[in-house]
Amino acid sequence: MPLVSMRQLLDEAAKGGYGVGAFNVNDMEQIQAIMMAARQTKSPVIVQASRGARAFAEDLYLFKLIQAAAELNPDIPIAMHQDHGNSFETCKSAIALGYTSVMMDGSLKEDGKTPSTFEENVEVTRRVVDYAHERGVTVEGEIGVLGGVEDGHGAGGTGLEHITDPDQAVEFAERTGVDALAIAIGTSHGAYKFNKKPDGSVLKMDVLIAIHNRLPHTHLVMHGSSSVPKELQDIVNEYGGSLKPTWGVPIEEIQLGIRNGVRKVNVDTDNRLAMTGAIRKVLWTQPEKFDPRDYMKPAREAMAKVVSERMTEFGQAGHAGDYTPIPISEMAAGYKSGKLDTRPSVAAH
Ligand code: 13P
Repeated sequence: MPLVSMRQLLDEAAKGGYGVGAFNVNDMEQIQAIMMAARQTKSPVIVQASRGARAFAEDLYLFKLIQAAAELNPDIPIAMHQDHGNSFETCKSAIALGYTSVMMDGSLKEDGKTPSTFEENVEVTRRVVDYAHERGVTVEGEIGVLGGVEDGHGAGGTGLEHITDPDQAVEFAERTGVDALAIAIGTSHGAYKFNKKPDGSVLKMDVLIAIHNRLPHTHLVMHGSSSVPKELQDIVNEYGGSLKPTWGVPIEEIQLGIRNGVRKVNVDTDNRLAMTGAIRKVLWTQPEKFDPRDYMKPAREAMAKVVSERMTEFGQAGHAGDYTPIPISEMAAGYKSGKLDTRPSVAAH
């Protein structure tokens, strides 16, 4: 099956009332791990690459690997997404490669660190939406600023400094026409999200619910959604690692988000931890090993296990065969005719 539009994947998730994990990749083993989990759970998937991942793997290697995944798994809908695009040019280059979805993170300036103004964010995101929709490609925007840093991208902080203002979210959706919207409700990228177990009042779920009520046609995105399970931290530390105690986003909070309009759930750190733990274990317990396959195979299996658990927890499991992919050219026609317009003033009618 060809790569599918992320918009279609999220529209289907909204109909079915489930969330879809968006898993970051840098290499072949991570792509294989996601596909192993998708096959096992019969899940549609979003695979995403940051600018750092594209640079690490070299664009063409990574994209050809995704094409191979699509060819080898004809029954699994796969959307390929640019995570945290920092400029129009970054998004344009992803679209040129064949990505079916891009994130224009205009919440930060092009340096990927400094918060931008609302007007700057609207302007660059609108430009990307015009360009992408003409080509049938999905666009995710961001309003508010997430905490932490991922692959060198991020404002840092705890994620509570720039919580999304629902009025701004509505104005942003109206003026940009994004398909999906990342909002800041207190999550942050990376392993160190919370320094004590979150008690259910840590994330601003009231803000999420307020935004969903006012933007029912815009798919909400939860970034920084790794749960950072203690079991994975323990494996890393048992075999020579030194992670400080930390807590991630509880699965129940993500599920509450999914019941209130979250359709895309970004997970990277949990997979990194799973792979690192598995690699450490082999190298620590069998120091005579030197064939990369001896540690990459268990690393791939450990990641597939985490991904498969998340697919089940987010509710996407079992939905791979629900729909036939709409060709990207047809998506472009849908945007042109206004059928796929998400702007609140239009979509409400
Ligand atoms: P985590 O660091 O929580 O896995 O978040 C990943 C993410 O949001 C990618 O954009």
